[in-house]
Amino acid sequence: MKITAKQLRQKYLDFFKEKGHTIISSASLIPENDPTVLFTTAGMHPLVPYLMGEKHPGGKRLVNVQKCLRTDDIDEVGDTVHQTFFEMLGNWSLGDYFKKDAIEWSLEFLTSSKWLGLEKEKLAVSVFAGDPSTGSGQAVPKDNDSAEIWKSLGISESRISYLPRKNNWWGPAGLSGPCGPDTEIFYWTGKELVPDVFESDDARWVEVWNNVFMQYNKKIDGSFELLKQQNVDTGMGLARTVAVLNSVFDNYQTDLYFPVIQEIEKLSGKKYLELEEITKAMRIIADHLTASVFVLAEKLEPSNTERGYVLRRLIRRAVRYGKQLGMDKPFCSEISETVIKTYQGAYPEVLKNKEFIKSELDKEEERFSKTLEAGLRELNKLFLVGEIQRIAPGQEIKTFNRVDAKKAFFIYQSYGFPLEMIQEELAKRLLIVDEKEFEEEMKKHQELSRRASAGVFKGGLQDHSEISTRYHSATHLLQAALRKVLGEHVYQKGSNITAERLRFDFPHPKEITPDQIKQVEDLINEKIKESLPVHFEEMELEKAKQLGALGVFESKYGEKVKVYFVGVPENYFSVEICGGPHVENTGEIKGLKIQKVESIGQGIKRIRAVIS
Ligand code: ALA
Repeated sequence: MKITAKQLRQKYLDFFKEKGHTIISSASLIPENDPTVLFTTAGMHPLVPYLMGEKHPGGKRLVNVQKCLRTDDIDEVGDTVHQTFFEMLGNWSLGDYFKKDAIEWSLEFLTSSKWLGLEKEKLAVSVFAGDPSTGSGQAVPKDNDSAEIWKSLGISESRISYLPRKNNWWGPAGLSGPCGPDTEIFYWTGKELVPDVFESDDARWVEVWNNVFMQYNKKIDGSFELLKQQNVDTGMGLARTVAVLNSVFDNYQTDLYFPVIQEIEKLSGKKYLELEEITKAMRIIADHLTASVFVLAEKLEPSNTERGYVLRRLIRRAVRYGKQLGMDKPFCSEISETVIKTYQGAYPEVLKNKEFIKSELDKEEERFSKTLEAGLRELNKLFLVGEIQRIAPGQEIKTFNRVDAKKAFFIYQSYGFPLEMIQEELAKRLLIVDEKEFEEEMKKHQELSRRASAGVFKGGLQDHSEISTRYHSATHLLQAALRKVLGEHVYQKGSNITAERLRFDFPHPKEITPDQIKQVEDLINEKIKESLPVHFEEMELEKAKQLGALGVFESKYGEKVKVYFVGVPENYFSVEICGGPHVENTGEIKGLKIQKVESIGQGIKRIRAVIS
């Protein structure tokens, strides 16, 4: 090893410290106060408020190594470069330096013999080609500035590729937030001579670093506005760069993964790089268990929702691929020890939570094997002897009988059997499933479930409407709480909900004291903690009025309205005429924090609050 992961982390931090950056530590893998993403997906993610203009205690230049988890590429894991968990080296300018310094420094760090010493002749870059439709009407021009800077630093025009928004625009990480054009740096990893012309879709050019020039804020309605300040956000994948520096061009042969690969070799008796299928399975296991160790180190448990679901999928996928390698005994917790050893120096939390990590892995592996056993029983029932072509002793086997793809898909869906495993089991019974038919079943099912599970696993994004729904219900609690604390003169004069906050306007001529705010907030959170049921009934307006329902009474006579009730009969906390939708119980809101109370004139107050 010419350079280890530990050395590269240190070099990166040292370099940017010399350039006046403050070293900050990695934030948690679980984003704080951000309901729009399940996990931290980039180094900039925890810095969003500062990119938007908040003052950071570390100043305007920051650098760190951030642990990240991205699941949108999960199906790509298995090749040399894709991972779900990775560490990102990043430096930031919060309204301080911009394109020139950022580009110069990245080139210096990569090529100076004092730092990484990569050959400049093997570098190529991409820059933003411009987009007439980016922004709310305003076009974003081609990034000539960056191209000129690269040229002035000796990168020839033929090594600059101008790429569209799909390639050279970054962000936002969630549904809204800071974003901008970027310039990416590629390194030639081919054994062949480096070509003069850069072709970005040639896989031998490996992207090592991304410099994003964050000047825009994407709003929830999809439009863009200029940010108060011009920022720089950069990201360099640690494993990928260690691989390039050691000329292995396979992340899994770096010191971050190879010990785990060797452990898998030992447990499976198979050899890495021996066969494509074996290599792929080993990489998937190494990646997924590394990711699982880090998620578990956040004290999260596998479950069927959101983050817990991602964790469950990661562990179960690792187990499945383990079975493919013939690892039939539990292995996750054993492999996790090697992962922990690799990372404990840089991330003490993995060592601190070692017992928890190991026992959760054991439990999940056990649960999964029970599910698989049940699946096997079901499979035996479904594909009875009757469907099997009976073979007389000595008779040659000519054909495999086909089974109903629907039945095979049922096993896949209900018991989590991967297709390969189903095929193996069927083959033992001289049965076969038509892969095309199976895929068709899968497609049908995906269409059906797409809406239900939108984004939960793939993109890591919570459904937008889910957040709005929580805010919507929180607004009902807020109105009820305000009436209880300030008086019955309070009513909703205006309400506005985005994925980031709620806003609520109401008449109240007097000042509101901090104590009153606290009472309102406490009352709401008490009701959230009580996990009160929320339900609606359709009734005539007259009846709703009699019940004391709040809301706009503009319905025509006789028309039915929907009334939402929060709480239990005889003791409803809130009754409002409203179209919905709402959460099923207040516990789903999780918590509400009032951020700001202001007077907007004519005795009207405005509250902004966020859910947590
Ligand atoms: N935020 C940028 C990325 O993740 C640097 O690529």
